[in-house]
Amino acid sequence: MDKTCAFLVLVAFFDFLAVSAVERLPAADKAKYSTYLQKFETKRNHYRLDAKQLLDNATLYMKEKFESAGLEVKLQNFTTSDTTTGQSVSGTNVVGILKGQFFDTAKDEVVILGAHLDTRGLEQEGVNNDGSGLTALITLAEDLTGKDKCAQNHSILFVAFDRSETFDVQQGHAVCNKSCGSQAFARDINTVVQRGSVKIAIIMDCISNYNPDADAQKVYEQPIKDYFSSFFEDQGLIYGNMGNYLAVVGREDEKEILIKYKELFNQVRETTYSQYEAADFMWNFKGKPTGINLTNVETAFEKSDTLSFWDANMTSILLTDTCYQRDPLFSCKSNVWCDNYAKASRDDNLGFMYTTATAAKNLTKFLVCTDKDINECTQGTDKCAVNATCMNTYDSYKCICKNGFKGDGFTCDDIDECAQGDAKCSKEAICVNLPGSYRCNCKHSFSGDGFNCVASGTSTVAAIFYHIVMLVAVGLLEFTM
Ligand SMILES: *[C@@H]1O[C@H](CO)[C@@H](O)[C@H](O)[C@H]1NC(C)=O
Ligand SMILES: *[C@@H]1O[C@H](CO)[C@@H](O)[C@H](O)[C@H]1NC(C)=O
Ligand SMILES: *[C@@H]1O[C@H](CO)[C@@H](O)[C@H](O)[C@H]1NC(C)=O
Ligand SMILES: *[C@@H]1O[C@H](CO)[C@@H](O)[C@H](O)[C@H]1NC(C)=O
Ligand SMILES: *[C@@H]1O[C@H](CO)[C@@H](O)[C@H](O)[C@H]1NC(C)=O
Ligand SMILES: *[C@@H]1O[C@H](CO)[C@@H](O)[C@H](O)[C@H]1NC(C)=O
Ligand SMILES: *[C@@H]1O[C@H](CO)[C@@H](O)[C@H](O)[C@H]1NC(C)=O
Ligand SMILES: *[C@@H]1O[C@H](CO)[C@@H](O)[C@H](O)[C@H]1NC(C)=O
Repeated sequence: MDKTCAFLVLVAFFDFLAVSAVERLPAADKAKYSTYLQKFETKRNHYRLDAKQLLDNATLYMKEKFESAGLEVKLQNFTTSDTTTGQSVSGTNVVGILKGQFFDTAKDEVVILGAHLDTRGLEQEGVNNDGSGLTALITLAEDLTGKDKCAQNHSILFVAFDRSETFDVQQGHAVCNKSCGSQAFARDINTVVQRGSVKIAIIMDCISNYNPDADAQKVYEQPIKDYFSSFFEDQGLIYGNMGNYLAVVGREDEKEILIKYKELFNQVRETTYSQYEAADFMWNFKGKPTGINLTNVETAFEKSDTLSFWDANMTSILLTDTCYQRDPLFSCKSNVWCDNYAKASRDDNLGFMYTTATAAKNLTKFLVCTDKDINECTQGTDKCAVNATCMNTYDSYKCICKNGFKGDGFTCDDIDECAQGDAKCSKEAICVNLPGSYRCNCKHSFSGDGFNCVASGTSTVAAIFYHIVMLVAVGLLEFTM
């Protein structure tokens, strides 16, 4: 891959002080997430007998959950010698298939949802890395065969990849140079998708990690620091470099899908955790990461399941948060302190995971379902009130009264700010209600903008200055409340 790769990174900050919106996560989803996450509170890898047994158990658990959701399941055994020692290693990917009407025809454009099964190192519990991805995978399989089922044109593959992680201290073990499981899957894609093509592989890796430590989001490593610095100067510092951070990463090839994901993420957070902020920026990362002085980010991409798809000329995006080697963000490495059930199952982590995974589900529906989404808002068939904003959703739309109006969105009534005492007029001014807003008129013998009135004859420059300072203060207050 020698073409220029421009990564688009979507960053969603979690306002670290506003973590109490727990009830917004549907109780049934919360219970499921907790149960599944706990199943992955295990050290699952190929390098020690007990850990291998736990890995086999996790593999079987994925198979059982996929089967009970109604998927057709294949255990894909593979062997590869792309290892540090040249010795061959083997592993097993779990593949669940949900067939669309075009399955096994040239018209099929398969969407792959993937996460990895194994843990890194010998002592990592691997709840966040990557029990979170597996948990999302199971719940997405259950939702897309259950409450979110749609008539599908295209097929969905749910895949748990083995041998994604390497063992740090090599001790003579044969360790995969890359993510062997996803490399093998991409190489052998024709055995699963015999006809048709892959639309996109959406990889979820470490999606339940919230880090309230000071400077947890701080960028420390060159050259990534250069890419991020202006962004963090603009936004990061406001949050004290704490909280959560979702990176949704792709290249120019994936840009449209990234933009769609962001739109869907914003729609989900509107109704769940509106305190998340989403922003995007281009990260001008040139070419495939290679070389010996790789930064953590580059190393992560070199080994990621996403790169396995890029290597095989398939489109793929990576959804990930602050996890070791997933970003240049330190202090929450994939360690026992951080990557355990107690931490990953906390409400703030589950909420973020829910938002991330639900947006992935909605994106999948958008890509595979038969019915094209009708955008009632742009077609003008919505029933929103004149003073409401229309928001398209997958199968419907929502109406939200504009600022200064109240109601259910279908009817929006003017709020009388003067009568409610919400107006910020100077005490030397008279409040005048207007549709959707209000005006402050300085009383006779005073002048100014109505928010600040000074005895006539005094300069109005001071008044205008005062007003601007107020706005900035309110803006900051919203971030830290
Ligand atoms: C794996 O699962 C089996 C059956 O559920 C159980 O008996 C066994 O103890 C598990 N192995 C480990 C290492 O937990
Ligand atoms: C794949 O490997 C598992 C054990 O690792 C074994 O139980 C299963 O039969 C194998 N499947 C195939 C199709 O070879
Ligand atoms: C895998 O890594 C080893 C050691 O780092 C290297 O010798 C070998 O050539 C690599 N294999 C491939 C296929 O890149
Ligand atoms: C890698 O980093 C080391 C130490 O900073 C430096 O000496 C070396 O020249 C670098 N190599 C490359 C290829 O940039
Ligand atoms: C991917 O496409 C490039 C050219 O666009 C080609 O050189 C390369 O062999 C392809 N790789 C695979 C795995 O198909
Ligand atoms: C699904 O397939 C039908 C029939 O080929 C087609 O009319 C429709 O546009 C397709 N929907 C999507 C979303 O691709
Ligand atoms: C909508 O708001 C505008 C002012 O923004 C106002 O003039 C108009 O009367 C409002 N319409 C209704 C139906 O409330
Ligand atoms: C996303 O999924 C949620 C939960 O299933 C649903 O309520 C919402 O309408 C969906 N939004 C879109 C845009 O699909």
